[in-house]
Amino acid sequence: MADGVYRCPGCFAPLFAVLVPCDGCGAAADRVKGLRSFVMPDRVGRLDRIMRVIYDRFGRGHDPALRVVLPLVDGISEGEARQRLLDRLPLQQLQAVAAERPLRVLDVSFGTAGELLGLARTLPVGTELFGVDLSSGMAALGARNLARAGVSAELCLGDAHHLPYRDETFDLVVHVGGINAFTDRRQALAEMVRVAPTGTASDSRRRRTVRR
Ligand SMILES: C[S@@+](CC[C@H](N)C(=O)[O-])C[C@H]1O[C@@H](n2cnc3c(N)ncnc32)[C@H](O)[C@@H]1O
Repeated sequence: MADGVYRCPGCFAPLFAVLVPCDGCGAAADRVKGLRSFVMPDRVGRLDRIMRVIYDRFGRGHDPALRVVLPLVDGISEGEARQRLLDRLPLQQLQAVAAERPLRVLDVSFGTAGELLGLARTLPVGTELFGVDLSSGMAALGARNLARAGVSAELCLGDAHHLPYRDETFDLVVHVGGINAFTDRRQALAEMVRVAPTGTASDSRRRRTVRR
């Protein structure tokens, strides 16, 4: 577990590698399908619970469905859609930070890891990739895809409405897809902004940027 990154999903106190379960409130980060889970079941909204069941059960159909639906709805392939996200990255800004220290980048709702794989190809060597997703089924698929590609990322289970990370932890926070089915989009966006020091969270498909 990376140092100085996580916070307790129960009381929001900083978590250190040696303090899991949380020293303050006792909340535990259990392992589910090999991933650390920061999900607090009683805090997950109704719609998110429903979506989690759907993604857990039908996650395998996600990528094949994208390959069919995206050309029909947006007129572009999945690869083109993902490339558009990468094209919008503030690479110059990120390169400047990477010259000083390794970048920390978070993908919220990483799903089958399509974005994480693209970010790994695009961002400077040494970038530390993180991913959080509510569905253990999707996250397991993503973990498998990353392992197959030889890409390392620190993945966990968590709710976008209560991200298990400390304030201003990441140099870049990415979210693609999912937010329209979140219980409270405003809260989820506020969480993405909270953990991003530049104060910018981006939802690429809707081309929306929120600044703090
Ligand atoms: C449409 S998929 C997108 C996956 C991936 N970002 C991509 O572009 O292929 C939506 C993802 O959001 C995740 N998700 C749904 N509700 C969530 C929540 N409240 N917090 C975190 N992730 C959530 C789902 O498990 C799923 O992996």
